[in-house]
Amino acid sequence: MGEMKDADAVGEYGNPICGDLMHIYIKVKEMNGQKIIDDISFQTFGCAAAIATSSMITEIAKGKTLDEASNITRDDVAKSLDGLPPIKLHCSNLAADALKDAIKNYRENQK
Ligand code: FES
Repeated sequence: MGEMKDADAVGEYGNPICGDLMHIYIKVKEMNGQKIIDDISFQTFGCAAAIATSSMITEIAKGKTLDEASNITRDDVAKSLDGLPPIKLHCSNLAADALKDAIKNYRENQK
């Protein structure tokens, strides 16, 4: 948890309805010709479910390739938490979309 000062990229995603906002920081390294998420952290201003899903996505994504991490869905996050109440499922969107935004920003920075 927390800001990563030397991150290679930052992703941001917010829910305009509830006002919750999430930042995902990633550090990427190349290993065996693949780019992998070497370190990841989050800052979340939001509900308990948004904070739990932020934390869980850092656990799921660390060590994965960028392509693998891009394919993590909100369902993957919710399942890893042993489920979320239906009213809180949208909170897991924040985590998946903030990570996708971080990966997109990383790729754009590399161009
Ligand atoms: Fe806004 Fe959970 S209520 S993300």
